[in-house]
Amino acid sequence: MPTKVVFAPGAISGIGQECRNLGGTKAFLVTGRTFTKNSPYFTQIIKSLNEAGIEVHIHAEIEADPSVETIDQGAADMKLANANVVIAFGGGSPTDAAKAMSVLQGNEGSVLDYMRGRRQIVKAGLPLICVPTTAGSGSEVTAAAVVTDRVAKEKISISHPSIIPKIAIIDPVLHTSMPPKVTASTGIDALTHAIEAYIAVQANPLTEAVCLQAIRLIGSNLRRAVANGSDLEARGGMALASLLAGIGFNNAGLGAVHGIAHPVGAQFGIAHGIANGIMLPYVMEYCLMADYAKFSDIAVALGEDIHGMIVRNAAKQAVFAVKALKQDIGIPDTLAEVGVPPSAVNTIVKDAVTYRRLPNSPRKLEEADLRIIVERAMGIRLI
Ligand SMILES: [Fe+2]
Repeated sequence: MPTKVVFAPGAISGIGQECRNLGGTKAFLVTGRTFTKNSPYFTQIIKSLNEAGIEVHIHAEIEADPSVETIDQGAADMKLANANVVIAFGGGSPTDAAKAMSVLQGNEGSVLDYMRGRRQIVKAGLPLICVPTTAGSGSEVTAAAVVTDRVAKEKISISHPSIIPKIAIIDPVLHTSMPPKVTASTGIDALTHAIEAYIAVQANPLTEAVCLQAIRLIGSNLRRAVANGSDLEARGGMALASLLAGIGFNNAGLGAVHGIAHPVGAQFGIAHGIANGIMLPYVMEYCLMADYAKFSDIAVALGEDIHGMIVRNAAKQAVFAVKALKQDIGIPDTLAEVGVPPSAVNTIVKDAVTYRRLPNSPRKLEEADLRIIVERAMGIRLI
Protein backbone atom coordinates (compact mmCIF):
# COMPACT_ATOMS: atom_id res chain seq x y z
CA MET A 1 0.00 0.00 0.00
CA PRO A 2 1.44 3.40 -0.92
CA THR A 3 -0.14 5.12 2.11
CA LYS A 4 1.18 4.60 5.64
CA VAL A 5 -1.89 3.98 7.79
CA VAL A 6 -1.85 4.78 11.50
CA PHE A 7 -5.06 3.38 12.96
CA ALA A 8 -5.83 3.65 16.68
CA PRO A 9 -8.03 5.47 19.16
CA GLY A 10 -6.01 8.54 20.14
CA ALA A 11 -3.80 8.32 17.03
CA ILE A 12 -4.08 12.06 16.30
CA SER A 13 -1.80 12.86 19.23
CA GLY A 14 1.04 11.48 17.09
CA ILE A 15 0.44 13.70 14.08
CA GLY A 16 3.31 16.06 14.96
CA GLN A 17 5.85 13.24 14.89
CA GLU A 18 4.37 11.75 11.68
CA CYS A 19 4.61 15.14 10.04
CA ARG A 20 8.24 15.47 11.18
CA ASN A 21 9.03 12.02 9.77
CA LEU A 22 7.83 13.26 6.38
CA GLY A 23 10.27 16.15 6.65
CA GLY A 24 7.53 18.68 7.33
CA THR A 25 8.42 21.96 9.01
CA LYS A 26 5.57 24.12 7.77
CA ALA A 27 2.10 22.58 7.40
CA PHE A 28 -0.82 23.91 5.38
CA LEU A 29 -3.90 22.53 7.18
CA VAL A 30 -7.01 22.26 5.01
CA THR A 31 -10.39 21.86 6.68
CA GLY A 32 -14.08 22.70 6.44
CA ARG A 33 -15.66 26.08 7.09
CA THR A 34 -17.78 25.05 10.06
CA PHE A 35 -18.09 21.68 11.75
CA THR A 36 -14.53 20.39 11.54
CA LYS A 37 -12.86 23.65 12.52
CA ASN A 38 -14.96 23.82 15.68
CA SER A 39 -14.17 20.23 16.62
CA PRO A 40 -12.26 19.83 19.92
CA TYR A 41 -9.92 17.41 18.12
CA PHE A 42 -8.78 20.23 15.87
CA THR A 43 -7.08 21.86 18.87
CA GLN A 44 -5.35 18.55 19.71
CA ILE A 45 -3.94 18.36 16.19
CA ILE A 46 -2.58 21.90 16.32
CA LYS A 47 -1.06 21.20 19.75
CA SER A 48 0.70 18.03 18.55
CA LEU A 49 2.06 19.84 15.48
CA ASN A 50 3.27 22.81 17.52
CA GLU A 51 4.94 20.53 20.07
CA ALA A 52 6.85 18.92 17.21
CA GLY A 53 8.02 22.38 16.17
CA ILE A 54 5.85 22.56 13.08
CA GLU A 55 4.46 25.89 11.99
CA VAL A 56 0.79 25.61 10.95
CA HIS A 57 -1.14 27.68 8.45
CA ILE A 58 -4.89 27.04 8.84
CA HIS A 59 -7.05 27.12 5.71
CA ALA A 60 -10.65 26.57 6.92
CA GLU A 61 -12.34 27.50 3.65
CA ILE A 62 -13.70 24.27 2.19
CA GLU A 63 -17.42 23.86 1.50
CA ALA A 64 -19.26 20.59 0.87
CA ASP A 65 -18.50 19.41 -2.68
CA PRO A 66 -15.59 21.82 -3.22
CA SER A 67 -15.74 23.95 -6.35
CA VAL A 68 -13.14 24.83 -8.97
CA GLU A 69 -12.99 28.35 -7.47
CA THR A 70 -12.40 27.05 -3.93
CA ILE A 71 -9.58 24.79 -5.15
CA ASP A 72 -7.90 27.46 -7.27
CA GLN A 73 -8.07 30.04 -4.47
CA GLY A 74 -6.81 27.49 -1.93
CA ALA A 75 -3.95 26.50 -4.23
CA ALA A 76 -2.91 30.16 -4.53
CA ASP A 77 -3.05 30.54 -0.73
CA MET A 78 -0.99 27.35 -0.36
CA LYS A 79 1.70 28.78 -2.64
CA LEU A 80 1.83 31.99 -0.60
CA ALA A 81 2.11 30.05 2.67
CA ASN A 82 5.26 28.35 1.34
CA ALA A 83 4.42 25.13 3.21
CA ASN A 84 6.20 21.81 2.64
CA VAL A 85 3.46 19.47 3.84
CA VAL A 86 -0.35 19.49 3.54
CA ILE A 87 -2.74 18.16 6.16
CA ALA A 88 -6.40 17.43 5.40
CA PHE A 89 -8.73 17.34 8.41
CA GLY A 90 -12.38 16.48 7.74
CA GLY A 91 -14.57 14.36 5.48
CA GLY A 92 -14.25 13.67 1.77
CA SER A 93 -14.67 17.32 0.78
CA PRO A 94 -11.67 18.87 2.60
CA THR A 95 -9.60 15.78 1.78
CA ASP A 96 -10.31 15.97 -1.95
CA ALA A 97 -9.80 19.75 -1.88
CA ALA A 98 -6.41 19.33 -0.19
CA LYS A 99 -5.41 16.73 -2.79
CA ALA A 100 -6.38 18.95 -5.73
CA MET A 101 -4.77 22.04 -4.18
CA SER A 102 -1.57 20.07 -3.59
CA VAL A 103 -1.53 18.91 -7.24
CA LEU A 104 -1.54 22.56 -8.33
CA GLN A 105 1.68 23.19 -6.39
CA GLY A 106 3.60 21.07 -8.88
CA ASN A 107 1.45 21.71 -11.95
CA GLU A 108 0.45 24.97 -13.66
CA GLY A 109 -3.03 26.33 -14.35
CA SER A 110 -6.51 25.86 -12.88
CA VAL A 111 -7.85 22.56 -11.57
CA LEU A 112 -10.43 22.86 -14.35
CA ASP A 113 -7.66 22.24 -16.93
CA TYR A 114 -6.99 18.84 -15.35
CA MET A 115 -10.70 18.00 -15.01
CA ARG A 116 -11.26 18.73 -18.70
CA GLY A 117 -8.11 16.96 -19.87
CA ARG A 118 -6.56 20.17 -21.23
CA ARG A 119 -3.48 19.50 -19.08
CA GLN A 120 -1.96 16.36 -17.61
CA ILE A 121 -0.52 15.99 -14.11
CA VAL A 122 3.21 15.66 -14.65
CA LYS A 123 4.70 16.43 -11.25
CA ALA A 124 3.81 15.40 -7.72
CA GLY A 125 2.34 18.07 -5.47
CA LEU A 126 3.16 18.46 -1.78
CA PRO A 127 3.06 15.38 0.50
CA LEU A 128 -0.33 14.93 2.14
CA ILE A 129 -1.39 13.66 5.57
CA CYS A 130 -5.10 12.86 5.93
CA VAL A 131 -7.08 12.81 9.13
CA PRO A 132 -10.60 11.69 8.19
CA THR A 133 -13.42 12.74 10.52
CA THR A 134 -16.01 10.64 8.68
CA ALA A 135 -16.04 6.97 7.71
CA GLY A 136 -17.06 6.92 4.08
CA SER A 137 -15.05 8.55 1.32
CA GLY A 138 -11.96 6.35 1.65
CA SER A 139 -10.19 9.34 0.12
CA GLU A 140 -7.37 8.96 2.64
CA VAL A 141 -5.99 6.07 0.56
CA THR A 142 -7.08 6.86 -3.00
CA ALA A 143 -5.46 8.50 -6.02
CA ALA A 144 -8.50 10.61 -6.94
CA ALA A 145 -10.09 13.92 -5.93
CA VAL A 146 -13.63 14.87 -6.92
CA VAL A 147 -14.14 18.54 -7.83
CA THR A 148 -17.44 20.27 -8.68
CA ASP A 149 -17.70 22.55 -11.70
CA ARG A 150 -20.64 24.69 -10.53
CA VAL A 151 -20.92 26.50 -13.88
CA ALA A 152 -21.34 23.32 -15.93
CA LYS A 153 -23.05 21.57 -12.95
CA GLU A 154 -20.69 18.61 -13.17
CA LYS A 155 -18.64 16.60 -10.70
CA ILE A 156 -15.41 15.32 -12.18
CA SER A 157 -12.55 13.49 -10.51
CA ILE A 158 -8.92 14.09 -11.24
CA SER A 159 -6.73 11.09 -10.71
CA HIS A 160 -3.01 10.38 -10.61
CA PRO A 161 -0.82 8.03 -8.52
CA SER A 162 1.01 11.06 -7.06
CA ILE A 163 -2.27 12.22 -5.44
CA ILE A 164 -2.30 9.23 -3.05
CA PRO A 165 -1.78 10.56 0.51
CA LYS A 166 1.52 9.70 2.19
CA ILE A 167 -0.02 9.12 5.62
CA ALA A 168 -3.57 8.43 6.84
CA ILE A 169 -4.17 8.92 10.56
CA ILE A 170 -7.41 7.18 11.40
CA ASP A 171 -8.65 7.84 14.90
CA PRO A 172 -12.15 6.43 15.56
CA VAL A 173 -12.49 8.67 18.64
CA LEU A 174 -12.83 11.61 16.23
CA HIS A 175 -15.85 9.92 14.67
CA THR A 176 -17.83 9.73 17.92
CA SER A 177 -19.01 13.33 17.50
CA MET A 178 -20.35 12.72 13.97
CA PRO A 179 -24.16 13.27 13.89
CA PRO A 180 -26.34 10.24 12.97
CA LYS A 181 -27.33 11.68 9.57
CA VAL A 182 -23.70 12.19 8.54
CA THR A 183 -22.81 8.74 9.89
CA ALA A 184 -25.58 7.24 7.75
CA SER A 185 -24.82 9.08 4.52
CA THR A 186 -21.05 8.62 4.70
CA GLY A 187 -21.46 4.99 5.79
CA ILE A 188 -23.67 4.16 2.82
CA ASP A 189 -21.04 5.80 0.57
CA ALA A 190 -18.49 3.33 1.98
CA LEU A 191 -20.91 0.47 1.31
CA THR A 192 -21.36 1.71 -2.26
CA HIS A 193 -17.57 1.76 -2.76
CA ALA A 194 -17.24 -1.76 -1.40
CA ILE A 195 -20.11 -3.21 -3.46
CA GLU A 196 -19.24 -1.39 -6.71
CA ALA A 197 -15.60 -2.44 -6.46
CA TYR A 198 -16.52 -6.01 -5.46
CA ILE A 199 -18.69 -6.56 -8.54
CA ALA A 200 -16.45 -4.48 -10.85
CA VAL A 201 -15.04 -5.83 -14.10
CA GLN A 202 -11.63 -4.70 -12.82
CA ALA A 203 -11.95 -6.60 -9.53
CA ASN A 204 -9.16 -9.03 -8.63
CA PRO A 205 -8.68 -11.47 -5.73
CA LEU A 206 -6.98 -8.84 -3.57
CA THR A 207 -9.67 -6.18 -4.03
CA GLU A 208 -12.39 -8.81 -3.60
CA ALA A 209 -10.94 -9.76 -0.22
CA VAL A 210 -10.83 -6.21 1.13
CA CYS A 211 -14.23 -5.27 -0.34
CA LEU A 212 -16.00 -8.30 1.09
CA GLN A 213 -14.51 -7.61 4.51
CA ALA A 214 -15.62 -3.97 4.22
CA ILE A 215 -19.18 -5.13 3.41
CA ARG A 216 -19.16 -7.46 6.45
CA LEU A 217 -17.94 -4.67 8.73
CA ILE A 218 -20.59 -2.26 7.44
CA GLY A 219 -23.29 -4.92 7.84
CA SER A 220 -22.42 -5.36 11.50
CA ASN A 221 -21.43 -1.80 12.47
CA LEU A 222 -23.30 0.88 10.50
CA ARG A 223 -26.62 0.55 12.34
CA ARG A 224 -24.80 0.58 15.68
CA ALA A 225 -22.79 3.70 14.76
CA VAL A 226 -25.98 5.52 13.68
CA ALA A 227 -27.90 4.37 16.76
CA ASN A 228 -25.21 5.34 19.25
CA GLY A 229 -22.45 7.60 18.02
CA SER A 230 -20.27 6.98 21.06
CA ASP A 231 -20.07 3.22 20.38
CA LEU A 232 -16.31 3.23 19.79
CA GLU A 233 -16.22 -0.38 18.61
CA ALA A 234 -18.80 0.38 15.89
CA ARG A 235 -16.93 3.58 14.96
CA GLY A 236 -13.71 1.59 14.64
CA GLY A 237 -15.48 -1.01 12.49
CA MET A 238 -16.83 1.68 10.18
CA ALA A 239 -13.50 3.52 9.97
CA LEU A 240 -11.83 0.24 9.00
CA ALA A 241 -14.58 -0.57 6.50
CA SER A 242 -14.22 2.82 4.84
CA LEU A 243 -10.44 2.36 4.63
CA LEU A 244 -10.72 -1.16 3.17
CA ALA A 245 -13.36 -0.05 0.66
CA GLY A 246 -11.07 2.86 -0.31
CA ILE A 247 -8.19 0.46 -0.95
CA GLY A 248 -10.59 -1.76 -2.92
CA PHE A 249 -12.00 0.89 -5.22
CA ASN A 250 -8.68 2.64 -5.69
CA ASN A 251 -7.57 -0.56 -7.43
CA ALA A 252 -10.78 -2.02 -8.88
CA GLY A 253 -12.67 1.20 -9.64
CA LEU A 254 -16.31 2.13 -9.16
CA GLY A 255 -19.37 1.85 -11.42
CA ALA A 256 -22.78 3.15 -12.39
CA VAL A 257 -23.93 4.12 -8.89
CA HIS A 258 -21.25 6.79 -8.72
CA GLY A 259 -21.77 7.59 -12.41
CA ILE A 260 -25.39 8.53 -11.65
CA ALA A 261 -24.79 10.00 -8.18
CA HIS A 262 -22.34 12.57 -9.55
CA PRO A 263 -24.83 14.39 -11.81
CA VAL A 264 -27.56 14.04 -9.16
CA GLY A 265 -25.22 15.74 -6.69
CA ALA A 266 -23.89 18.36 -9.10
CA GLN A 267 -27.29 19.33 -10.52
CA PHE A 268 -29.40 19.22 -7.37
CA GLY A 269 -26.94 19.62 -4.49
CA ILE A 270 -27.81 16.19 -3.06
CA ALA A 271 -25.11 14.94 -0.66
CA HIS A 272 -22.84 12.35 -2.26
CA GLY A 273 -23.70 9.59 0.22
CA ILE A 274 -27.44 10.19 -0.08
CA ALA A 275 -27.31 10.13 -3.90
CA ASN A 276 -25.32 6.89 -3.80
CA GLY A 277 -27.56 5.39 -1.15
CA ILE A 278 -30.65 6.10 -3.25
CA MET A 279 -29.13 4.67 -6.44
CA LEU A 280 -27.37 1.62 -4.96
CA PRO A 281 -30.25 -0.93 -4.84
CA TYR A 282 -31.56 0.12 -8.28
CA VAL A 283 -28.17 -0.40 -9.93
CA MET A 284 -27.65 -3.67 -8.03
CA GLU A 285 -31.04 -4.96 -9.16
CA TYR A 286 -30.27 -4.10 -12.79
CA CYS A 287 -26.81 -5.70 -12.68
CA LEU A 288 -27.87 -8.75 -10.66
CA MET A 289 -28.02 -11.22 -13.55
CA ALA A 290 -24.42 -10.43 -14.52
CA ASP A 291 -23.02 -12.19 -11.47
CA TYR A 292 -25.36 -14.12 -9.17
CA ALA A 293 -22.46 -15.64 -7.26
CA LYS A 294 -20.95 -12.30 -6.27
CA PHE A 295 -24.31 -10.83 -5.28
CA SER A 296 -25.01 -13.86 -3.10
CA ASP A 297 -21.60 -13.28 -1.44
CA ILE A 298 -22.76 -9.74 -0.69
CA ALA A 299 -26.00 -11.07 0.81
CA VAL A 300 -24.06 -13.36 3.15
CA ALA A 301 -21.61 -10.57 4.07
CA LEU A 302 -24.59 -8.42 5.05
CA GLY A 303 -25.87 -11.17 7.33
CA GLU A 304 -28.59 -12.76 5.18
CA ASP A 305 -29.37 -16.45 5.57
CA ILE A 306 -29.25 -17.95 2.06
CA HIS A 307 -29.32 -21.54 3.25
CA GLY A 308 -31.24 -23.78 0.83
CA MET A 309 -31.79 -20.99 -1.72
CA ILE A 310 -30.99 -21.26 -5.40
CA VAL A 311 -28.24 -18.78 -6.33
CA ARG A 312 -30.65 -16.43 -8.13
CA ASN A 313 -32.72 -15.97 -5.00
CA ALA A 314 -29.60 -15.70 -2.84
CA ALA A 315 -28.36 -12.90 -5.11
CA LYS A 316 -31.67 -11.06 -4.72
CA GLN A 317 -31.18 -11.14 -0.96
CA ALA A 318 -28.26 -8.72 -1.41
CA VAL A 319 -30.66 -6.08 -2.73
CA PHE A 320 -33.10 -6.83 0.07
CA ALA A 321 -30.32 -6.47 2.68
CA VAL A 322 -29.20 -3.10 1.30
CA LYS A 323 -32.80 -1.82 1.29
CA ALA A 324 -33.32 -2.98 4.89
CA LEU A 325 -30.10 -1.30 6.01
CA LYS A 326 -31.07 1.92 4.23
CA GLN A 327 -34.49 1.90 5.85
CA ASP A 328 -33.02 1.41 9.33
CA ILE A 329 -30.55 4.28 8.99
CA GLY A 330 -32.94 6.66 7.19
CA ILE A 331 -31.63 6.86 3.63
CA PRO A 332 -34.44 7.86 1.18
CA ASP A 333 -35.76 5.34 -1.35
CA THR A 334 -36.29 7.54 -4.39
CA LEU A 335 -34.83 10.59 -6.11
CA ALA A 336 -38.30 12.16 -5.95
CA GLU A 337 -38.09 12.12 -2.13
CA VAL A 338 -35.06 14.43 -2.23
CA GLY A 339 -36.67 16.82 -4.70
CA VAL A 340 -35.24 15.66 -8.03
CA PRO A 341 -37.99 16.30 -10.62
CA PRO A 342 -38.93 13.74 -13.33
CA SER A 343 -37.89 16.29 -15.96
CA ALA A 344 -34.28 15.80 -14.83
CA VAL A 345 -34.00 12.21 -16.08
CA ASN A 346 -32.54 13.31 -19.40
CA THR A 347 -29.77 15.53 -18.07
CA ILE A 348 -28.82 12.96 -15.40
CA VAL A 349 -28.64 10.16 -17.98
CA LYS A 350 -26.69 12.30 -20.51
CA ASP A 351 -24.07 13.05 -17.88
CA ALA A 352 -23.94 9.52 -16.39
CA VAL A 353 -23.35 7.90 -19.79
CA THR A 354 -20.05 9.81 -20.05
CA TYR A 355 -18.76 8.49 -16.70
CA ARG A 356 -15.32 7.03 -17.35
CA ARG A 357 -15.88 4.09 -15.00
CA LEU A 358 -19.21 3.05 -16.56
CA PRO A 359 -17.62 0.15 -18.50
CA ASN A 360 -16.47 -1.19 -15.12
CA SER A 361 -20.07 -2.22 -14.25
CA PRO A 362 -20.58 -5.99 -14.47
CA ARG A 363 -23.53 -5.48 -16.83
CA LYS A 364 -22.85 -3.46 -19.96
CA LEU A 365 -24.81 -0.24 -19.50
CA GLU A 366 -25.78 2.06 -22.33
CA GLU A 367 -27.95 5.17 -22.35
CA ALA A 368 -31.21 3.19 -22.53
CA ASP A 369 -30.17 1.06 -19.55
CA LEU A 370 -29.28 4.10 -17.48
CA ARG A 371 -32.63 5.66 -18.36
CA ILE A 372 -34.45 2.62 -16.98
CA ILE A 373 -32.38 2.69 -13.78
CA VAL A 374 -32.87 6.44 -13.22
CA GLU A 375 -36.61 6.28 -13.98
CA ARG A 376 -36.99 3.47 -11.45
CA ALA A 377 -35.05 5.47 -8.88
CA MET A 378 -37.25 8.45 -9.66
CA GLY A 379 -40.29 6.34 -8.86
CA ILE A 380 -41.81 6.86 -12.32
CA ARG A 381 -41.13 3.37 -13.67
CA LEU A 382 -41.95 0.21 -11.83
CA ILE A 383 -40.51 -2.46 -14.14
FE1 LIG B 1 -18.24 7.76 -3.10
